[in-house]
Parts: sequence; C-alpha cells; structure tokens
Amino acid sequence: MERSSRIEGFYKLSPEERLRVVKEFAGLTDDEARALSGQAGLTPGGADKMVENAVGTFAMPIGVATNFLVNGRDYLVPMVIEEPSVVAAASNAARMARDKGGFRASSTPPVMIGQVQVTRVKDPEAAAARLEAAKARILKLANEQDPMLISLGGGARDLEARVIETMHGPQVVVHLKVDVRDAMGANAVNTMAEATAPLIEEVSGGRVYLRILSNLAVFRTAKAEATWSKEAIGGEEVVDGVVEAYAFAEADPYRCATHNKGIMNGIDAVIIATGNDWRAIEAGAHAYATVSGGYKPLTRFWKTPEGDLRGSIEVPMAVGLVGGATKVHPGAKACVRLLGIRTANELAEVVASVGLAQNLAALRALATVGIQKGHMSLHARNIVASVGCPPELMEEAVEIIVRERKIRMDRAKDVVEELKRSRAKR
Ligand code: MEV
Repeated sequence: MERSSRIEGFYKLSPEERLRVVKEFAGLTDDEARALSGQAGLTPGGADKMVENAVGTFAMPIGVATNFLVNGRDYLVPMVIEEPSVVAAASNAARMARDKGGFRASSTPPVMIGQVQVTRVKDPEAAAARLEAAKARILKLANEQDPMLISLGGGARDLEARVIETMHGPQVVVHLKVDVRDAMGANAVNTMAEATAPLIEEVSGGRVYLRILSNLAVFRTAKAEATWSKEAIGGEEVVDGVVEAYAFAEADPYRCATHNKGIMNGIDAVIIATGNDWRAIEAGAHAYATVSGGYKPLTRFWKTPEGDLRGSIEVPMAVGLVGGATKVHPGAKACVRLLGIRTANELAEVVASVGLAQNLAALRALATVGIQKGHMSLHARNIVASVGCPPELMEEAVEIIVRERKIRMDRAKDVVEELKRSRAKR
C-alpha cells in the first residue's frame, strides 16, 4: 500500500519517534532502523574494507525530508548533511508543490562516457575516421570485458572519435558510450577504456595515455519540473521575487555559483545518504552548467500565464544502486530501502526533484525574509534543548526567544522556567 509522505508535525517529534514513523513508512527491519539511528551502521572493520589506513568511522546527521511526491509516488528522502535548515527547506518546498501534483521527473538511459586519449597521431582527422570505421571491433572488445553488464541489458553502445586542439598540438579522443544500467559505472567504463586502448593505438597509429570515464555525463541526465501555486508560496510578489532571483543567477556567475551551490545542498545530501560518489555528481553538475557557454544555473524559473511559479532542473546524474558504498555501507543500504527506489534512474529522478525543491526554498527565502530567520530558529531549538526544556514546552520557548531576538542560554533558561511555572498554575 502506498503511504503519504505528507506527515503533519514530523519535525516536532523526537528522533526516536521519527525513526518509528520512518520505519513503518518504509517497512524497515530492526537492523535497518538501527543503522539509520546511528546505534549500528558502519563498523571500524567495515571501514577497513572500504579505504586504506582506516582508523574508524565518522558520523554525520541523517535528516528525513517529508512531502516529496515525484511522478505520483510518495517518498521520504534521507539527507546526510551537516548544515542546518536544508532538510526543513526541502520538506517545505516539497509540501508547497503538492497541490499542483508535486514533481514530474524523467531521466535518460544510463549512458556514461569513457575517454581514451590518443597522442602523437600523424593525421588526426584520418585517424579519427579510421577509429570510427573500426567501431564494431572496438565495441565488441569493450563488451567482452563485462558479460554481467551485457546480461543485464547494458554494454558499450557507440563510439565517437573527436579531434581536440591542445597546448601540445592535436589529439584524438575516443568516447566509448556505455550503458551501465544500475551501476554508477566507473568500474565498467574504466575497464572497457583500458582494455580497448591497445586496439585503439593499433588503429590510430598513436600513443594512448589516459583511459578514464568522464564525469561530464551529458548522456545520463535527470530532469524534474514542478509548479508552485502563487497561493502556496505566499503570493504573486514571491513568484516575481523568485523569477528575478533566477534572472540574477542567469546573468552573473558570482551569484550563479551560490545558486547552484544551493541546488547541490539537496542533491549531495541524498547522494551521500545513498552511498554514491558526490564528487562525481558535483564535478558533473558544475561542468554541465557551462555547456551552453558561460556558467549558468542548473534550474530555470518562470511565471505561468496563471501567475504561478514553474521551475525545472536538468543535471547529469551518475548514480548507482549496485556496487560501491551503496552495497556495503549499512546506513546507505538502509537509506536506499527508506527511499524504496527500484532503479538507478528512479533514484536520479528523486535526486533531481530534491535539487529543484532545495533551490526553490532558498530563492523564496532569499527573495523574502532572508535565510537567517530559518537558521536562527534551528539554532534556537538547539539552545532551548540544551537547557533541558521538556518537549511539550519546546515550540513555545523557541518562539519566544526568536521573537525577542535573544537566542542565548541565559534567556532560554529563564523562559523555560517561566513556562514551567505558568503551566503548573493552570
Ligand atoms: C546556503 O548553503 C545556500 C544558499 O546560499 C543558496 C542560495 O543562495 O541560493 C542559501
């Protein structure tokens, strides 16, 4: 049975209560719930199998974003992030998108590029033509490297030979286009690039140096789109503010870097939670932001004829569900189960939706009250909690110290005592 991710008052619960809700929503096992809670999870022994010279593990918060409706399906989204306000902002933007149907997302087949660099080629154009003519032989050799991938319906699909001008003269670069199915793809693609290099040298007559995938995954992208009604986001003035904020980022790389950083706040948090390679996603996203010329926003926002706000995002999304940390890190495995995703493409679509939501939330805050207000209320919650405030007085105490702009331990202590006394009198 599908459940709704719209969970009223989720943020007011204790971490243990939230975990119970999440466990039930996704049908998690006790072990999976323990992995999310931090009581279990990656052990020093597990870490030792993942990296060299391991000395232990490093914990980060996992927050769960609520309200996500993507292609008609409800998701609770695990986000691993150290920055306050990000999880709340994503949840809020997702909630405001629900009355117009949430996010509509799509993704391309999972095709990655493997690059083989050929230097010292006498006639680069002729060598490139010979390489393209030898496509069938090269692709056959590539596909012999990974029978498993072939059996799953993936494999090297196409080859392109490009001539580039470098500071040392022209080079030929072979692009192997490989459908990596539910893998991130680095291993499959790098193996194919290395295995085909000798044949590529023979055909081109050049000298191969680099054989490695490209993180500019232009053939493996995810798109998402959503409409926020003007009523949901605070009126037409807010719609205009977000549209102007987008125009600012579109015109100015200084602003655009921060705009895209805000998108990556959401994207990276889910990428890390699911054990994926966030450096690859970061590199791909920022490189993709330049493909049209200058450095541009990864999202777009415009006003609909009805005066509502529509936004879209398109980003490379090289995420996997098989192999790597996703398969061995107990926390990552639990996060994948919590999401309930079945394919890497589905994960890519949810991640793109989170990026769009995160961006809308940031632009809406920036164009209206500013972002400090949200930061301050979380800070105030921490201060109030640290003075031993009982859960039932939490909301009121936070509201008072934020309103008074006295987000300090001494004031929090007094407020909590005053609230306790007034409750006792009732
Ligand atoms: C902060 O982590 C992210 C923002 O700066 C993004 C933005 O400015 O759009 C708020």
